[in-house]
Amino acid sequence: RFKQTTRSVQVMKERSEPIVMVTAYDSTQAAHAQAAGVDMILVGDSLGMVMLGYDTTVPVTIEDMIHHAKAVRRGAKDTMVIVDMPFATYHQSVADTVRYASRIMQESYVDGLKLEGGIEIVPHVQALVQAGIPVCGHLGLTPQSVLQFGGFRVQARELHAAQKLLNDAIALQAAGSFMVVLECIPSALGTLVTETITIPTIGIGAGDACSGQVLVYHDLLGLGVDSRRAKFVKTYAQLGESAIAAIKSYRDEVKQHEFPNQEYRYDIAVEAISSVKK
Ligand code: KIV
Ligand code: NA
Repeated sequence: RFKQTTRSVQVMKERSEPIVMVTAYDSTQAAHAQAAGVDMILVGDSLGMVMLGYDTTVPVTIEDMIHHAKAVRRGAKDTMVIVDMPFATYHQSVADTVRYASRIMQESYVDGLKLEGGIEIVPHVQALVQAGIPVCGHLGLTPQSVLQFGGFRVQARELHAAQKLLNDAIALQAAGSFMVVLECIPSALGTLVTETITIPTIGIGAGDACSGQVLVYHDLLGLGVDSRRAKFVKTYAQLGESAIAAIKSYRDEVKQHEFPNQEYRYDIAVEAISSVKK
């Protein structure tokens, strides 16, 4: 199996071959993604919401990210894996950023990191690139700032914000990023950014002109229990409903003494059991 690299995804953009990314947070999910043949896996800090039950990604720690990244690495050894740096771990000193980043890289042995933000984080991006770490940017709806935005909503709809986003993408490329995620922005802006910068763009709610797409594992598979979801999410299965139905069947069969029947039991010779003393 061919494992993508920072160079090969650049070539994919040049050849207009769509790049496919999906999130995963444990070894089973990672194995599913690899078996399906995706180009890249993202260990998103969305794990705080879909795996840990938080309302936002803000409470996710560096330990959480490393714990899940290690599991993903074990489940998908031959797939490029990118990991999110969590909330406020790249906003203090550049030295702190490099320390946090190298912990994730060395302890989980993944292929690159993703950071949210534009021009304001450029010194941090540059320091990571200097340390040899592949860096992916993330612009638009950057969920670590959701409390500041006042909710999950479409970003960069006005001229000023659209111009800033384009400038941010250019700055991230100049700082040495190998890729940029664009989340929840008008599709025409996704097109403009993709045509303006030379590194690949990965869209999630950013239109079809991006160099690739990313979806959250739980969204794609319909694993969520509540059905609220963003407009940009396409659900390819209803695994949450299947899971609930299967657990219900199990519950009913146990209650009705139907499971485990003969098929699921181990046998022992009647003479042997009759000589076991009570
Ligand atoms: O955490 C995440 O899953 C992400 C993607 C939605 C891009 O950052
Ligand atoms: Na994220």
